[in-house]
Amino acid sequence: MDITPFTPGCGAVVSGIQLAGLKCDDLKKLRNAFSDYGLLFFRDQKLSKEDHVDFAERWGSIVLNKFFQSAEGYPNIAEVRKEQHQETNIGGGWHADHSYDKEPALGSILVARSLPDRGGDTCFADAANAFDALSPGLQQTLEGLRALHSNEHLYGEDGYYQKTDLSQQLGGMDRVGGATHPMVIRHPDSGRKVLFVNPGHTIGIEGWSNKESFALLNFLYGHTEQDAFTCRFNWLPGSVAFWDNRRTWHLAKNDYRGQFRLMHRITLKGVPLLGTT
Ligand code: SIN
Repeated sequence: MDITPFTPGCGAVVSGIQLAGLKCDDLKKLRNAFSDYGLLFFRDQKLSKEDHVDFAERWGSIVLNKFFQSAEGYPNIAEVRKEQHQETNIGGGWHADHSYDKEPALGSILVARSLPDRGGDTCFADAANAFDALSPGLQQTLEGLRALHSNEHLYGEDGYYQKTDLSQQLGGMDRVGGATHPMVIRHPDSGRKVLFVNPGHTIGIEGWSNKESFALLNFLYGHTEQDAFTCRFNWLPGSVAFWDNRRTWHLAKNDYRGQFRLMHRITLKGVPLLGTT
């Protein structure tokens, strides 16, 4: 197995293995790489839907997405689908999956199933490396704060998706909700400090006004979105991305108008997140 950084500040490419039927030793090496990088890319995988579920179950427990449709016959696989006629895509803004849950998801394993001729890349950001680059003064301030996360503004009755052509596809408006988490977490596996806010789901800082919250949050978003901490992955048939939701954000580009794109996503159950103080 070969593990090479993808960009200096974001992700790694793993080559020389097939995720289907992975040997125990290789799984161990992969766990270490996941802890080191928080974002792994694989090419040329032969991963059936069964293999996708098997690999996910070897890693941990699967958590179902409350809003997406699942692949027929596979309740554990969420479909990230955009039809030819649809204008809106799922996950088109920076976000971390399920950060609005009390136990935010460990990670997501995304498999390319049908790709547009061109376009449809996914961008990623590494919020652990972004945190490390902040000044010690700001780091200390952030470590004492908690942020509120929600999905209501996206999936609720008056939410963003209800006003788009995805409204029929993204069900479960009755399941909206949120949680608060430390703004800086101690990563449960690597022990690193990670900035745990994201533009998609963070709706404010506990005890701060909206105006105050977004003055700081927008600064942190601009900081994290810099080239130094981000990368852009170009999907090919057989590509797989596996990211840590506690450490990374992602954004699906919507630059393939008039073409079909289908991805299969399995999300893994996480644990309650603890702060650093
Ligand atoms: C997602 O937000 O999980 C979808 C990412 C993608 O479709 O590239």
